Amino acid sequence: MFASWELSKHGTGFVSFAAPRADCAQCHSEEGYVDYISTGSVKEYTLELIGVDSLGFAVYDTINPYPNASPLYCTTCHDKHSSFDFENDGYDYALRNFNAVTLVIDSATVIDFGNASNNCITCHQPRNSYEIPSSTGDYEITSKRFGPHHGPQSTMLEGIMGANIAGSEPYPGVGSATHRTGSSCVNCHMGESSDISQGLHSWIPKDEACITCHPAGAPDEINGFSADMATLEALLAANNMFDVDGYYVPGTYSAKLAQAAWNYRTLLEDQSKGVHNPAYTRALLKNSIEALQN
Ligand code: HEC
Ligand code: HEC
Ligand code: HEC
Ligand code: HEC
Ligand code: HEC
Repeated sequence: MFASWELSKHGTGFVSFAAPRADCAQCHSEEGYVDYISTGSVKEYTLELIGVDSLGFAVYDTINPYPNASPLYCTTCHDKHSSFDFENDGYDYALRNFNAVTLVIDSATVIDFGNASNNCITCHQPRNSYEIPSSTGDYEITSKRFGPHHGPQSTMLEGIMGANIAGSEPYPGVGSATHRTGSSCVNCHMGESSDISQGLHSWIPKDEACITCHPAGAPDEINGFSADMATLEALLAANNMFDVDGYYVPGTYSAKLAQAAWNYRTLLEDQSKGVHNPAYTRALLKNSIEALQN
């Protein structure tokens, strides 16, 4: 358990500058996550009066609610007040959360995988930073970091929160992907394993998690993914959307360019090369390319 944990970025990839920031703490620190799960929000910055300046104006200091935030660890996801005796305490593994999760990007949308994978949604969802471009009207890209923040894995598995640009490739029904109905985050990433480098708390998918449905072995990307991503990137570049460092150039763009840019970033950030939802990925990718080629 601990050995496989050591391999996980949950353990080693602690984003130390993000964890103490109140707007990042929900997903990057234990304290922020626990507050969010138990109260529905994280603590806010407060202002403390520290004196008066030479003109007589009050001077305030901003007080960080999470000055010493801790990285994610066992007690982030599991409640330490519980016994860790799962045989007797039941199936919930004392997980702090395995309920359905309301998305931060859209409070009208709830994802419920109906199992322990609900634990993953709270953090592996797009952050509430930019509105998803719609199919009508120009769209202003206000930041070079436009797109969903790291972690649209839950929304991809569900088949939502892309910019569903019109095109010839049909969009699959929400929640219909076989990888969602017949498998799950936990099944693919936390399978039983005697090899510490895969499965369980390494979160590294094991081949065994695929073999039941892909007896000949599963491909590691959906057919044509890398080639299609390169095509889409070239089309966005041809419309001068990238700066020299590969970030988006802020500005006002047509609806289809903004939608394609959102989709490109979503599929990159998802980091599964389409595995999380082959049909939805294919529709976002093919239809984005089609729209920009016409
Ligand atoms: C809704 C949850 C959520 C919020 C809020 C959030 N993040 Fe993240 N962030 C994640 C997840 C999940 C990952 C890792 C998943 C991935 O790489 O796809 C991640 C990854 C990152 C990474 C890359 C880490 C690496 O190892 O490559 C950076 C940098 C980062 N976040 C910074 C921030 C900052 C700064 C903020 C606040 C402004 C923030 N995040 C807010 C969920 C969140
Ligand atoms: C990011 C969330 C998360 C973190 C962090 C985490 N776990 Fe878990 N853990 C889970 C989930 C989800 C399951 C349920 C897996 C399943 O349903 O098969 C689980 C299952 C378990 C189980 C029972 C199943 C098994 O593998 O034997 C034990 C024991 C356990 N965790 C211990 C730990 C310990 C010890 C740590 C710290 C090194 C830790 N966990 C960190 C999410 C987490
Ligand atoms: C408390 C928030 C949180 C929860 C809950 C959570 N994650 Fe993460 N996860 C992160 C962050 C943040 C990162 C990026 C690394 C870091 O900053 O520690 C990450 C990284 C990952 C990675 C990157 C690869 C690696 O080596 O770890 C995978 C895969 C992953 N998480 C899967 C899962 C799964 C599956 C679940 C549900 C069982 C889950 N996570 C639950 C926040 C979370
Ligand atoms: C059908 C199996 C499957 C399911 C279901 C699944 N994943 Fe994945 N996931 C993968 C594969 C395969 C990769 C690519 C791994 C690689 O390239 O190392 C991946 C990649 C990731 C990554 C990026 C890993 C990294 O090393 O940066 C994260 C984070 C992640 N998944 C989280 C999740 C979460 C959260 C869920 C549930 C919402 C989920 N996955 C559901 C198979 C799956
Ligand atoms: C519950 C059965 C099931 C499991 C488990 C499963 N898959 Fe799949 N997979 C499918 C089905 C069915 C399809 C085709 C239909 C679809 O896209 O949903 C598919 C499609 C794919 C595709 C897309 C192929 C293409 O080009 O369209 C990839 C890649 C893939 N799976 C990889 C994986 C990996 C990697 C794992 C294990 C980490 C895995 N699958 C686990 C059932 C499964």
